[in-house]
Amino acid sequence: MTTHLSRAHSFSTAATRYAAHRPSYPPALSTPLERLGGPPPRRRTAWVDVGAGTGIGTALLAERGADVLAVEPGSGMAREFRRALPRVPVVLGDGNALPLADGSADFLTYAQAWHWTDPARSVPEALRVLRPGGALAVWWNIQDHATPWADAQAARIARFLGKDDEARHTADRTSEQTTELDFRRDRLRWTRRVTLDDHLSNLATHSAFLVLGEDRTATFLNEERAELRKVFPDGIVEEAYVVDLLVATRP
Ligand SMILES: C[S@@+](CC[C@H](N)C(=O)[O-])C[C@H]1O[C@@H](n2cnc3c(N)ncnc32)[C@H](O)[C@@H]1O
Repeated sequence: MTTHLSRAHSFSTAATRYAAHRPSYPPALSTPLERLGGPPPRRRTAWVDVGAGTGIGTALLAERGADVLAVEPGSGMAREFRRALPRVPVVLGDGNALPLADGSADFLTYAQAWHWTDPARSVPEALRVLRPGGALAVWWNIQDHATPWADAQAARIARFLGKDDEARHTADRTSEQTTELDFRRDRLRWTRRVTLDDHLSNLATHSAFLVLGEDRTATFLNEERAELRKVFPDGIVEEAYVVDLLVATRP
């Protein structure tokens, strides 16, 4: 039986593929991030990206000129991070027990990673580590289900796995359940064009497939390739995403 924990730990087994195929986030994300209370990048402010993985979200923060420290529990992901961003420090650590001093961070970010923590522990940890006035930002790239082919794909995945795509509801759950923090929310739509092979490789790095095993994943991906060929006969897929963003400031 797969558990939330086994899925949370699954990424390190596929770190190289993750780095190669997962999408980034649009640079325009910095505008709603700041509007909702994220700090502008200034020298000598401490930004910490938790669940940093291979550094996809961290790179975006570092490009803005901030001094970022990355925290990541998976050693395989951290190894890939060091390869991708050799100048950005990364430490092994967990959002449920951050390896950071009280009041030491101005900005804590979780790109596509907050839902792997236990909010009963990660919320108090965020409040402990942030200085007063510091901000917590959490966001997810969700496939845009207003796009008919993506909605049909989500239904096929749900049928195959026997469950709904949890990520669709993660931001709703987070803002409803986290009563200690007053989250403000924004959404940002964006698209990218990739080959059908890249799109399927991206899908295969999702935890639900990583814990499923290679044979069953290959079965799904072969069927999916045939379905998508009907929609994208030239073999180029336009992936449509909504970045669902929540930001809260520590009182
Ligand atoms: C979907 S990946 C996101 C990686 C990266 N932030 C990005 O935007 O591509 C989720 C990451 O959360 C990490 N993770 C799992 N459990 C965690 C926890 N309790 N605290 C912090 N990160 C966790 C995983 O190891 C993985 O690297």
